Amino acid sequence: MSATTTAHPGEPPVTAASARTTRGETDEGPGGRPAFPDGFVWGAATAAYQIEGAWDEDGRGCSIWDSFSRVPGKVADGHTGDVACDHYHRYSEDVRLMAGLGLAAYRFSVAWPRVRPTGSGPVNPHGLDFYDRLVDDLLAHGIAPYPTLYHWDLPQALEDCGGWTSRDVAYRFADYAVAVHDRLGDRIRTWTTLNEPWVAAFLGYGSGVHAPGRQSPAAAFRAAHHLLLGHGLAASALRTAGAAEIALTLNLAPVIGPGDAAPAIATVDGLLNRQFLDPALRGSYPGDVLEIAARHGGLDHIRDGDLEIIRQPLELLGINYYNPSFVSSAPGEPANPAFPGTEGVRFDPPAGPTTAMDWPIDPAGLESLLLRLSRDYPEVGLLVTENGAAFDDVVQDGRVSDPERVGYLDAHLRAAHAAISAGADLRGYLVWSLLDNFEWAYGYHKRFGIVYVDFATQRRIPKESALWYREVIGRNGLSYGSQGDR
Ligand code: FCB
Repeated sequence: MSATTTAHPGEPPVTAASARTTRGETDEGPGGRPAFPDGFVWGAATAAYQIEGAWDEDGRGCSIWDSFSRVPGKVADGHTGDVACDHYHRYSEDVRLMAGLGLAAYRFSVAWPRVRPTGSGPVNPHGLDFYDRLVDDLLAHGIAPYPTLYHWDLPQALEDCGGWTSRDVAYRFADYAVAVHDRLGDRIRTWTTLNEPWVAAFLGYGSGVHAPGRQSPAAAFRAAHHLLLGHGLAASALRTAGAAEIALTLNLAPVIGPGDAAPAIATVDGLLNRQFLDPALRGSYPGDVLEIAARHGGLDHIRDGDLEIIRQPLELLGINYYNPSFVSSAPGEPANPAFPGTEGVRFDPPAGPTTAMDWPIDPAGLESLLLRLSRDYPEVGLLVTENGAAFDDVVQDGRVSDPERVGYLDAHLRAAHAAISAGADLRGYLVWSLLDNFEWAYGYHKRFGIVYVDFATQRRIPKESALWYREVIGRNGLSYGSQGDR
């Protein structure tokens, strides 16, 4: 079976040569080691609901994940984020850990229900106090804060008014963004509006495996549009308020399949990638996506002028990359609920090695994705805002040996380096995740951290991957030989 990575049917596949520009300035360090450009940003990422805990402290309101995780059967073993990594109380210890690893950047998310407990209405100053302390602590340790304003924890009060299917929520999001900027704007350079709107819309409102757990294709398309509108409104308001750099983070993946699967590849690529890239960076929806949305509830929610709002100048595109999607053509196959319009498309299980999530390990997918983005959306800088892997880590003699994670990270960084050498304007890499944490519907069963968390005691143990990452950061590059076989 010949695999083809394609962006747009009919266009040549992306190769290093086709994307080469004069931008890529990487080095071969001493002895031919892959070295990254000066100023390359090394960091780690987390998200509020996954690590903070303190779910009802200091005036925090309820979020859709507080509600959803309490619905029996929605999260493995009934786990919730009530305590999580207790980062709300232990942030200072966590910042010291980051400093010890040499991180230059820390991507975290701000919990909307801490800042505006009912989503609109008065600001809760105590909620902002937490992020104020965190940002000061990070800066005192030389770590640049990279806040994301929405990582899926919508205030429940807004969901009760329709959630992201309601246009009004986009405006409430922009108001909240400004409230956060008012408090932190003097110390933040880079603001990210949304994390993975595809997941928020299509897993939250389409397949229902994420909060709020609705299962309606029409609701998913409406939610996606209103998320994009919220991004545009917030980006514009942040810019007016003086934000230096604005980013949007998307979950992006090459869609791969056999030669006769071109229509299946194009459909999934449209829904997953172009549905968000094109409005945000080009100011238009792809025709094939509009056609599918029109068949699933219509297009009334897209109003004149929306696309001008959505397309805001962006300094950075945040890329969360875990694995490609493998599809083939399978007449008679029903649509995947997370991908309305995919009747006749089969999502194929991975053939090669996988992580504990059963996600395929495919570093080449990162390289081709970065090159495609450079080719198709050349104006925006790129930042890997998430990449990493869950494995079944165990503590032995007080240590956590995780050679598979080291191999995963090393291989993806080599792929990123190759993309930079071929011209991709990649500015940095943030590993997912700093800490083992609440992995959404999987609860605490999936460990993505480079730092192990013993959830019974809240003890943190840097895994061998964390120590390896510290070395990579220290030399701004990889070691001579690949770590893949360790
Ligand atoms: C991404 C999410 C992040 C984490 C990783 C594994 O989709 O943004 O919160 O769950 O997957």
